Amino acid sequence: MKEAIVNNQTFKEIISLKEIKPVVANLAARIDHNYPLDQDVVVIGILNGAFIFLADLVRAIERPVEITFTQLKSYIGTKSTGDVQILKEIDIEIKDKHVIVVEDIIDTGNTLFQYNQILEAKKPKSIAVYALLVKPENIQHELPSFNVGFEIKDRFVIGYGLDFDGIGRNLRGIYQLKS
Ligand code: IMP
Ligand code: MG
Repeated sequence: MKEAIVNNQTFKEIISLKEIKPVVANLAARIDHNYPLDQDVVVIGILNGAFIFLADLVRAIERPVEITFTQLKSYIGTKSTGDVQILKEIDIEIKDKHVIVVEDIIDTGNTLFQYNQILEAKKPKSIAVYALLVKPENIQHELPSFNVGFEIKDRFVIGYGLDFDGIGRNLRGIYQLKS
């Protein structure tokens, strides 16, 4: 079993890159199938976590798409829902275009729920979410049409873009904190 030590904590691999690849290809095929070729599709990656998933996903899509990034920060106060602050805005017009939001993981769903409202104000033709991972036990919000690669347990994971205090994004597979 593959293990990694990050910030003195031991993680074990739960999903290998070999297992991730066909699932990402499947999500890409769904995108190719869902959007007519004569309509504009914009892919928005949420930094930093989505950068590896997005790179693999868009290279598996056959049709041309426009790609941009946003960086968000969630502030969790005393309430369970925190406000999402935009650290980096998207730099292209999305009005009347199909938007695909690419995220590493959906935990409570708060980040995507709030970002969806920000995007809706820009009047895109549609919004869909593609996330590599979801922790179904934790979701607290209704999200727009969302597509996920893997459902995982409510355990902290790193790798394939996800970090633990900034470290571990480069690990090839998904690693879970050992209990
Ligand atoms: P949400 O707003 O609760 O859905 O949280 C989403 C964000 O929390 C993700 O974009 C990740 O940055 C972070 N996150 C949630 N769970 C994990 C995890 O297990 N490992 C690393 N980051 C996580
Ligand atoms: Mg993130």
